[in-house]
Parts: sequence; structure tokens; C-alpha cells
Amino acid sequence: MAILVTGGAGYIGSHACVELLEAGYEVVVVDNFYNSKPVVLERIREITGKDFKFYEEDCCNEVAMDRIFDENKIDAVIHFAGYKAVGESVLQPIKYYENNIGSTIALIKSMQRHECFKIAFSSSATVYGVPEYSPVPETFPLSAVNPYGTTKLYIEHILGDVYTSDPRWSIALLRYFNPIGAHKSGLIGENPNDIPNNLMPYITKVAAKELPILHVFGNDYNTKDGTGVRDYIHVVDLAKGHIAALRKILETTGIEAYNLGTGKGYSVLEIVENFKRVNNIDVPYQIDPRRPGDIDEYFADPTKAKVELGFECELGIEEMCRDSWHFIEEEKKREL
Ligand code: UFG
Repeated sequence: MAILVTGGAGYIGSHACVELLEAGYEVVVVDNFYNSKPVVLERIREITGKDFKFYEEDCCNEVAMDRIFDENKIDAVIHFAGYKAVGESVLQPIKYYENNIGSTIALIKSMQRHECFKIAFSSSATVYGVPEYSPVPETFPLSAVNPYGTTKLYIEHILGDVYTSDPRWSIALLRYFNPIGAHKSGLIGENPNDIPNNLMPYITKVAAKELPILHVFGNDYNTKDGTGVRDYIHVVDLAKGHIAALRKILETTGIEAYNLGTGKGYSVLEIVENFKRVNNIDVPYQIDPRRPGDIDEYFADPTKAKVELGFECELGIEEMCRDSWHFIEEEKKREL
């Protein structure tokens, strides 16, 4: 059983490759290293003791995608490849539409030509726009508040139309909440080169003294302590959610959306306090104005994934904070 993983060298994709290989699947990775590094592939091999085929290609390249399907008997695809920086998407919308939507269309066309009809897509809780209440169920009305979110929403629509056109398709739309954490080996995780946009990579850079102070964006939200509340999910749990979804799409047809989140909300200050306590390290912070576009609070209703996929998160906030930092510490040692 061979699974094509697009964006398999990326943060979530690499953790999914580990879980796939450990579950006994054959894996074929395609990645253009736009936002990832070749060494990650070696680390996946080191963790699992297993090998896999790799193609350095851009998923927008239909000829290259066809070659991958010609050379491998692919049973299903997990499509992670895509740009993901919200702020950049506002400044360069065409770059996001062209890449995220273009790559998905090229992939789908190639899948159709090779009669592979099973795909799990990396969507995002961002397709809920500004949720009026939490927990957010999959039935919540969809909208987008930035071009990145619009690409996720459009791709969900495109995949819906693809299914309508041919009922042989089996499609899972996986709506991620906020992935943090890293593999417990400390070999793979998230460590952006640039100044991070997201909370946990920023915290780890402050803890590592690469950045002086964490800016907490607003403490006047309508939440437990005034700071923004999100549903943080350990990336290893998230990866396992893909295996559960894959099992489902391999044995059915249809199109379904699933929230992948824990159902629990933590505030920015709760994350900071947990991180400091679990790792026994200081994270200086200051309260700054709100970040434009941010919302008070949202977290998942994870019931559908539990009932239909048999998937539940196992790792809590302590493991998320511990593993995020462990990975950075190990990276520092490796740099020496
Ligand atoms: N925050 C800070 N300081 C920072 C970074 C973030 O206080 O330096 C706060 C934010 O204001 C927010 C919380 O931490 O309250 C989480 O922010 P993130 O940027 O980590 O995550 P978001 O919830 O804004 O967005 C994430 C992904 C998006 C995705 C969205 C889906 O970055 O790609 O979840 O819901 F679309």
C-alpha cells in the first residue's frame, strides 16, 4: 500500500511520514524544499529505521506529478504541500492562489489520469472564518478572512466538485487547529529561519535567547485572562489523525470534513506559563496591542473525528511544551 505525501519534508508532513512508516505503509515523498530542508528526510529514516522514495519536485509541475504516478503504484495521497504564512498571503495573494490552488489542480489531474481517487487534504480551522461560538463543529458556516484561508476554502470547494463529478473519489478534508510540539526523539520539529509568525516558534526563540522578548498580542480579549485562546494540538497527534483518516478513505468513497483538534482552549499566557514550568526556563514577555485580524477564542468540537475515525488526541499541553523545547535544544546541540 503506497501513500504519496506531498510536502513530506515539512513540519506536519514529516511527522505524518513517521507515523505512516511506523504503521507499515510504503511512502513516496514529493517536496521542493521551499519551506523545508533535505536533512529532514534523513531524520525520518533515522527515527523509523525505514526507507522511502523521494522526489524533489514542485507539485504545480504536472509532468513531474505524472512521472511520480507512472513510476509508483500510488493508492492514496496526503496533500500537505502549500504556502502557509497568513501575513505574506495578504501581501502576495497571487503567489498563494497560484501555488496552493495550482498545485492541488495539477495533483488532482494527475490522480485522475492514473485512476487514484483517494486523497486527504491539509485544510485548516481558518475555513471557519470568525467563529461566533466554540466548540466549532464541522457544520459551522465557512468563510475566509485572508488569502491563505481563501485558498484552503477554495480547495475544499474544488474537491467537493471533483467528488460530485465522479463518485469513485474518497476525500477527507482535515481541518487543523493549532499544531505545536515535535517528535519525542527531538529529530524533527518546527524551527523557522525567519522571525516566526506563530506563538510556539516565537516562544522557543525567546527561550533560546535568539529573540529578546515575546510580544503578547492583546490582553483585552473576551477570554479567561484577556489573551487569545486557541486549540493547540500536538503535531504527533495530528499526524496520527491522518492515519485514521487514511484508513477511512481507503475503505469508503465520499467527501467528509474532520476537525483535528483537542477540544480544549488555552490562552497565550497559559501556554507561556506551562512552557516555563515544564521546561524550567524563562520566557520574558510584554503585553502589546492586538494583532490585526486575530479573534478572541476558538476551539474544536472533535466529536466527528472520534466517532467516525476513532481518533482522539492523547498528548496534553505539557507534552506539547516539553517536546517543542526538546527539539530546539537538540537542534542547538547538532549545530555545535
Ligand atoms: N500570539 C502572540 N504573540 C505571537 C504570536 C501569536 O500573542 O508572537 C497569539 C495570537 O494573538 C493568538 C495566539 O497567540 O491569540 C495564536 O497565534 P498563532 O499565530 O500561533 O496562531 P493563529 O491561531 O493566529 O493561526 C493559526 C495558523 C493559521 C491557521 C489558523 C487556523 O497560523 O495558519 O491557526 O485556525 F489558519
